[in-house]
Amino acid sequence: MKILKTPDSMYAACAQRHHDGRRIGLVPTMGALHEGHLSLIRAARAQSDAVAVSIFVNPLQFGPNEDLAKYPRTLERDCQLLEAEKVDLLFAPSNQDMYPAGATTFVTVEGLSERLCGRSRPGHFRGVTTVVAKLFHIVEPDLAFFGQKDAAQVAIICRMVRDLNFPVRIVICPIVREKDGLAMSSRNAYLDPQQRKQALALYRSLMRVQTLADTGERSTAKLVEAGKDVIAEEPGVRLDYFEVVNPETLDPVSDISHGALVAVAAFVGSTRLIDNVVLHGASESREPSVG
Ligand code: PAF
Repeated sequence: MKILKTPDSMYAACAQRHHDGRRIGLVPTMGALHEGHLSLIRAARAQSDAVAVSIFVNPLQFGPNEDLAKYPRTLERDCQLLEAEKVDLLFAPSNQDMYPAGATTFVTVEGLSERLCGRSRPGHFRGVTTVVAKLFHIVEPDLAFFGQKDAAQVAIICRMVRDLNFPVRIVICPIVREKDGLAMSSRNAYLDPQQRKQALALYRSLMRVQTLADTGERSTAKLVEAGKDVIAEEPGVRLDYFEVVNPETLDPVSDISHGALVAVAAFVGSTRLIDNVVLHGASESREPSVG
């Protein structure tokens, strides 16, 4: 595996692979890799000729009171995992190289970026789309792989790719869960054993909604109420939002007849976790990829 530290050196390494006729699959990450990331890398390996992974804890997507300083950084271990997955290129730039002094250009997907997590994390998605746009320019991937766990991020990146004509196909990979249902996340590392148990309330709330939907409930209001009730039963968990939306526009929907994304965000202690489920119908109506 080649490790590239600057945008110029990464661009050159990718250009060489393009020149050799290889299709590049990009997996953007912030490191602290877990099985969820590895599933993206395996999908990239299966669908591309060269796999590029980026590890960059992007300061632009963290708010002033968020966990940028304490975000887990495990580069050595990450490199071992990537070597084992036979990744070709690792891009691990510094903040200065990604955002040289005086950088004042941003990419914003208006509207969508203020929904779901965007409401409680102002500026977060502007940071995500700016860094992902930069990665797309540096790598020029044929395919880019993102996890469904960050459902709003996926919708926003798909919109950016469409609106700005990025010549890349976005591949969305399913959520990877622990045996008991907890969605894998780098932030799970912050949870102590008691919080780890409390965190299961998110999955339980989604399963409750899924069961109600499977047995015929179509009213969003009723589904949201049921989901919120499950969260409220767990005193260690503080709800941020529980919403039922259109998976592409992130607009609220009043009934789920045409499918819907059910998304939850909640604090367990000071750790903010997210999870979601796509209800029947939405997965068929949603394009798995664009580009
Ligand atoms: O999902 C993430 O880890 C990040 O938001 C991403 C896409 C790597 C951009 O920093």
